[in-house]
Amino acid sequence: MESVEENSTTNLSDMPPVERTSETSHLVPPNSTSPPSYLNLASNLCALMFIAIIIYCCFRDGVSLFSFHPSLMSLGWLMIMTSAINAITPGDLATEWMPIRLRSARHWVLQLLAVTIITVGFLVILSNKIINNKSHFATLHAKFGLASLIFMSLTSLGGIGALYSLKLKNYIAPIYTKLLHASVGLLTLTLGVITILLGNFSHWWSFGEILRYFSMILVLLVMLFTILRPSLKIYFRLKERLDNMN
Ligand code: HEM
Repeated sequence: MESVEENSTTNLSDMPPVERTSETSHLVPPNSTSPPSYLNLASNLCALMFIAIIIYCCFRDGVSLFSFHPSLMSLGWLMIMTSAINAITPGDLATEWMPIRLRSARHWVLQLLAVTIITVGFLVILSNKIINNKSHFATLHAKFGLASLIFMSLTSLGGIGALYSLKLKNYIAPIYTKLLHASVGLLTLTLGVITILLGNFSHWWSFGEILRYFSMILVLLVMLFTILRPSLKIYFRLKERLDNMN
């Protein structure tokens, strides 16, 4: 990440031609030649199973305000946010036929939906704690949760920068705006996954060890299936850029 910032140039004439315009600075090639991947499907299936388990756990003994916190967070983070990331990953089975602009639109619309659902999930737990007069941000889960929400806000701001990267080209090359947004985005997803795992290991969990570890594996698989290809994409794009400079 630091190297992205350190090596960025604001002078367009210093950049290789391939990085000067938005059409050639996409992280995802406009016409992807990658074979279709089933990882997004696998990720969605694991997320669906995890959400079903969490909904069962939350509503098994009746409905309370708290029931909506894990349910909304899992839906927003593991299903909608991962689908938003998959939408702009090369070779994505569901979206590879779409033109890049449509994939990009799908990405930010889904991301906006995820942010809305997650914000409601956060307000639910915040109100629940205020009503029950409990202390805030006291557990490791709560602290990681707060960090995840802060990073989610930063990623969203970065997303606006990536959307208007051409307008910012006099300050930072579009490719770097996008690489930075993608890297912080993957970090955000990882933080959320750690938060969810810590939630599974909180005092609230009273559904047995088998279900706990099975859920944990599902969440880790969702993360692996989602961040594997984008991480490689960022790595190779950065390597290519650094090789060009040497
Ligand atoms: C990425 C998703 C999640 C985020 C960002 C998140 C965030 C938070 C935050 C910030 C709090 C503390 C609120 C306060 O102190 O006022 C909290 C509390 C809590 N969350 Fe989550 N949460 C997430 C998912 C989950 C999941 C999936 C579960 C259950 C499996 C869960 C269970 C709990 C419990 C039991 C509490 C109350 C006890 C505590 O503060 O640790 N959360 N969450």
